[in-house]
Amino acid sequence: MSLFGLPPIWMAPMAGEAASAALVAAVSAGGGFGQLGAAYLAPSRITEIAADIRARTNRPFGINLFCPQAWTRDDAAIDAYLALLAPWHAELGLPAPVRPAVCEEDFEAQLAAAVAARPAVLSFVMGDPGAARVAAVKAQGLVVLGTATQVSEGLALQASGVDGVIAQGFEAGGHRGGFLGSAEGAGIGTMALVPQLVDALDVPVIAAGGIADARGVAAAQALGASAVTVGTAFLLVDECPLSPAYRAALLDARDSDSTLTRAFSGRLARGLANRVTRELEGTALPAFPQPNAASRPLRQAAAKAGRAEFISLWAGQALPLQRHPGSAAALVAALARSWRA
Ligand SMILES: Cc1cc2nc3c(=O)[nH]c(=O)nc-3n(C[C@H](O)[C@H](O)[C@H](O)COP(=O)(O)O)c2cc1C
Repeated sequence: MSLFGLPPIWMAPMAGEAASAALVAAVSAGGGFGQLGAAYLAPSRITEIAADIRARTNRPFGINLFCPQAWTRDDAAIDAYLALLAPWHAELGLPAPVRPAVCEEDFEAQLAAAVAARPAVLSFVMGDPGAARVAAVKAQGLVVLGTATQVSEGLALQASGVDGVIAQGFEAGGHRGGFLGSAEGAGIGTMALVPQLVDALDVPVIAAGGIADARGVAAAQALGASAVTVGTAFLLVDECPLSPAYRAALLDARDSDSTLTRAFSGRLARGLANRVTRELEGTALPAFPQPNAASRPLRQAAAKAGRAEFISLWAGQALPLQRHPGSAAALVAALARSWRA
């Protein structure tokens, strides 16, 4: 029996440049389970992109949201952060950076749009959506998943009624999904985390972090995972609309270029070290999501200008394993080879 009637190879939801209908649809049509990282999308865009995915494939897909974070707007801290960005704006010929009017989308409106889009799976990260929300979404017939970086988070999510838990190991690219203890969760690797969650939980566990080829898929299944989630390796498939500078940086990187940084968003995330991560290392920053909103103009302009030193180059530790995956369908097939039904 396959988990939730879905294929075992899932593409991780990836907010930002990879949040594309073409990519999600190519994964689902190609025999995997594509997911849309909708965290930075306005509710109306979630509706539009979901319709676009449906127009491209009748296969199931997922949607993912960030749980709302506790933060208080701090204009003085934002100004201090903008002062750090200002020389880079000047270097790119951009106007001086300004305070963002709004730092994040309205979560409840995003949630309503995501549920109305009727994905097969709605997943959450960076928090516990809570029993009431989980029950309301499940009542609409959607599978609800949460993300855990340690066993206590998995237990909390299970107590809230989720149908399954994504085990996000320390190798994973992008933001750390944890929410208990330190704000960003523990640094437990996938190899250690998956079996501990499998032992502790009654709900199925989906492995994420550092899985990039058939060997990783086999390992995750041996550890007890009921499906695998692969992010970074899908960034390099043909259908992923990554900016050329980001793509080139991924192709150039070595294993030792992977780092954890708060520099772009205020929240710990794994990506490739570059000028911004190095120069802001150890600097006090406003709480997430304020820097994320404040640095968006710089990141977007840098992507257009081909300046990878100012882009948040999210990628996981297993990046060098999969440089030329070809199409999304080809990568799904290569990963699925070692999955034992
Ligand atoms: C570019 C990028 C963006 C990501 N965005 C999200 C996101 O929006 N929501 C989420 O739950 N996880 C996000 N992640 C983390 C993935 O869900 C997943 O945990 C991770 O990619 C798995 O590790 P891997 O990158 O080694 O395959 C992102 C990862 C990357 C690389």
